[in-house]
Amino acid sequence: MAATDRDTTQTHDPTGDRSTTESVGPAENWSVGSMKMGQVADRKVAVVRTESGFHALDNACPHQGYGLTTGSLDGERLTCQWHNWKFDVRTGQCLMGEEDVACHRVDVVDGEVLVTVNRQTVDEQRAKLWPSLERGIEADYTGQIARDSARLLATGTTPAEIMRSGLAHTAAKTDDGLGHELAMATDCLALAEIRNGTDQALPLVQGLAGLAETTRDRPARQLPDPDPSVSVPEAIETEDAKGAMAGVLGLLDQGADPATVRHQLIDAASAHHLSYGHGMIYTQKTFEMLDRIGWDSAPNLLPHLAARLVWSTREDTLPYMRKAMRSLAGVDLESLASAEADQGWQPDGLVDVMLDAPAAPLDAAAAAVIDGAGIEGLLAAVSLGASRRLLRHDLAIELDSSDAFGWLDITHALTTAQAVRWAWQADPGPHTARAALFAVWLLFDSGRSERRNGIAATGLEPDRLAPPATDDLATAVTFGDASSAVALATAGQPDQVGDILAQASLGDGAGSFIVAAHLIKTTEAARRETARTGSSLPLAAAARFLASPRVERFVAANVAESVDFVTTGRPPGR
Ligand code: FES
Repeated sequence: MAATDRDTTQTHDPTGDRSTTESVGPAENWSVGSMKMGQVADRKVAVVRTESGFHALDNACPHQGYGLTTGSLDGERLTCQWHNWKFDVRTGQCLMGEEDVACHRVDVVDGEVLVTVNRQTVDEQRAKLWPSLERGIEADYTGQIARDSARLLATGTTPAEIMRSGLAHTAAKTDDGLGHELAMATDCLALAEIRNGTDQALPLVQGLAGLAETTRDRPARQLPDPDPSVSVPEAIETEDAKGAMAGVLGLLDQGADPATVRHQLIDAASAHHLSYGHGMIYTQKTFEMLDRIGWDSAPNLLPHLAARLVWSTREDTLPYMRKAMRSLAGVDLESLASAEADQGWQPDGLVDVMLDAPAAPLDAAAAAVIDGAGIEGLLAAVSLGASRRLLRHDLAIELDSSDAFGWLDITHALTTAQAVRWAWQADPGPHTARAALFAVWLLFDSGRSERRNGIAATGLEPDRLAPPATDDLATAVTFGDASSAVALATAGQPDQVGDILAQASLGDGAGSFIVAAHLIKTTEAARRETARTGSSLPLAAAARFLASPRVERFVAANVAESVDFVTTGRPPGR
């Protein structure tokens, strides 16, 4: 609010005890076009005099807190010299940059410049922060997302409340429904919730930044009216996305309990081997997110999960799965689902068979389930197999950008095993037994590079390791000492190893959203699989993945495949 030097009285203070009014000096100290810093209680203010009168703003620039009075004034426009953000001094409105600056009342009384600073209640602070966070997410301004998240956390807002708000503005804009952005956000929220205070900010903002980056400038998907007459699994099976979304909303509208809705979506996600395991991963992560942010967000998330399941690739209908699907057709899924687990059953023999099988070992897997593995034992074997595959992944192939195969092709076997384990525990039955066999197939498929090129002699399976060169796991991961990282992750206390690897996965070294998402979700899956299997192999595998070079080949692979296709008409090989 501006004051001219003709003002002579202070008006009524509407904020009572929460405001402080103090003199910052005689008006004659300011010539028109000048600014000086003043202090009101514990607040530093930039007091500005322009043609329109006196104005007071927070002196701390909302960008990074540098003093605005060190900037420059041009008419009514103040420029922060540090990074060129610009503000209208009359209103605090940001003219260039990301955030407005707080403005304070000024009165000139008897020649003295009086500035009134209001202390906002927590509710008032939050009322301003929510729309600001929303703007930051919509514009994909990581700095603004980080600042507003830190400010909201400081007001006592929980990470779940903040993530819930972030999803309210992004879920409908996700490309083809909920995907990696949601999966990463869920794992990030889980990591935030096991931290305290300001340590919650990094995982929380990583998750929000992923949502912002992937949904920026995208239109929101329109939701249909709820229709409880639609069978959700049937609509997904017939690729009726609108119907699937209407059916989910209809279930929720009728107050269906979470287990009923979850069963329908797990059933649909189990019907096919969807997009390299992603159908089940996204289903798991969406329901885990709802467990954290509250079931009343289900209408905001679940229709978009249903859409994603419709639009996923059904790999089981493709030629490379034909033989495996013939095997699967001969498996009695009812018997698998009801098979008793023998507590003494050990997965090692099955892991060896599955890792080196020349064809998808579905029959061997089914036999193991009946012989005492049970579905849980089978999934343990898949996750241990995936871990060993990660530990022996040949870096010569990883670094060969002409080969489309890379780390992520293997990590999905681990993350899918974890997702199917969740599905089996939440909703056991023949459908989730089928999903477990799809995980076996995926483990087999993740060995296609090994079958093509031979297994690397330089693999880092823990029994072939040299002694570590450092005793600090974080250092080994950060500096790319994969051998020491694997040794330390194998020997360390699993909870501590998991925490160190999780922190490393949140670091900013991935280079792209999709790799960051995989670092985080693979590490989280490894933590859980080590806890479930009692083996350090999953954490050791995650340690190697984090510590090793990774070649991003999304553009290169697309170009190579496109050139090949356009010039020869040949589709990509597998
Ligand atoms: S601190 Fe003001 S623009 Fe960066």
